[in-house]
Amino acid sequence: MSTRQALWPSLLPPELQGDDSLCAVSAEGVRVRFADGRELLCGTSGLWNCNLGYGNPAIADAVATALREASYLTLFRYESACARQAADALVDLCGAEHYGRVLFSTSGGAANDLVMKVARLYHALRGEPRRKVVVGLRGGYHGLTFGSFALTGEDLGQPVYGVDQRLVRHVTPNDTAELATLLGRQADRIAAVVVEPVLGSGAIPLEAEYVAELLRLREEHGFLLVADEVATGFGRTGSLFASQRWPEPPDLLVASKGLTNGTMAAATVVVSRGVAAAFDGPGTVLTHGETQAGAPATCAAILATIEEMRRLDAVALGRNLAERLDRELESLVAERPEVTGTTGVGCFRAVRLAGPDGAPLPHAEVPKVVAAIREAGAIVHPGPHCVQLFPALTYTEADLAELMERVRAGLAAHAAGLAARAAAPDRPVPSGARG
Ligand SMILES: Cc1ncc(COP(=O)(O)O)c(C=O)c1O
Repeated sequence: MSTRQALWPSLLPPELQGDDSLCAVSAEGVRVRFADGRELLCGTSGLWNCNLGYGNPAIADAVATALREASYLTLFRYESACARQAADALVDLCGAEHYGRVLFSTSGGAANDLVMKVARLYHALRGEPRRKVVVGLRGGYHGLTFGSFALTGEDLGQPVYGVDQRLVRHVTPNDTAELATLLGRQADRIAAVVVEPVLGSGAIPLEAEYVAELLRLREEHGFLLVADEVATGFGRTGSLFASQRWPEPPDLLVASKGLTNGTMAAATVVVSRGVAAAFDGPGTVLTHGETQAGAPATCAAILATIEEMRRLDAVALGRNLAERLDRELESLVAERPEVTGTTGVGCFRAVRLAGPDGAPLPHAEVPKVVAAIREAGAIVHPGPHCVQLFPALTYTEADLAELMERVRAGLAAHAAGLAARAAAPDRPVPSGARG
């Protein structure tokens, strides 16, 4: 029985609140301990955050030192030495031949709001103030602040909250014709196209032909191309950033989550030299600021994360893990009848599921699969007709074997539960099968 606490957690319905089995207490390496005493293997890196695992000591030490040396330094009408250093390091990391400037933010959502401001002001400064429309992908996710919620292409109840989507358009991922048609009609109003290189909902990668068409259309129509790498960044898909494998880089790159290994409320928009140059005129001010953005502890965490990524050769670790994951997922597809295939790339994967009738598993069943896998000892993430796996790049072979064993056990338990419910439809759902 759950007792509701003062905490109002994000996106968790009331019937699941106050449950100790969903209340994390601490985490280390790739394991999370919960208030009910269980320790679970994390198969999601805390949702794309802790790519290097939980409790990295070098990052923790760097943050502690920064807090002692300067509790807080503002970037409102000032600069700070640590923010300069973190910005330089990010430009180097992303590619100094293309990127030139760095804006700090405090979340992926706020950074996407910032992207929309940069894109609109960029065009206004160049004499095209009518270019205000921002295009996102259907099914894409960019956050839940008002701007990013509008851009998010998943239906998450935007109208109820009065989210204004008049300056946003959504197109189907990997549908080149739809994008070309939209641009053919409205190019002079389009400020930017914002894409996740791999859509977080369902782990759907953008196809090479689609990226090529995006780049061609950018050349033709002059919109800014934005890679939202909040989830794909920091080694998740086989390179430091997924867009580094594109034939040409985006104009703006958004990073968060893995940026500090999940330790800080931190995000960044890395801006190409060409775009940044439009803001160089005297008196030009971009009206954005977040009190805690680029604070000393955040910058220390960013610098330490970059150093740790290098020291551990984390991108290579992730690539090796991805190869083993490929093989494991192939076996899973071969073994389990409800697994119809996998999507994704690198350590950013989805296991597609079907019901007993062979049709894609209904949405209401997915949280039950996630709960059954949790019951079996691992944390995975729900997606459309799938469960998603984003293991830490630092997973050992034994960690991966354990993850797959727990996924298998959870899938088997869920399948057995489904069969039992089909045989006796009025029986109450067992308590382990909750979202
Ligand atoms: C691609 C992408 N963009 C933006 C966000 C929003 O980030 P935040 O929750 O920090 O606002 C997320 C969060 O999962 C994301 O995956």
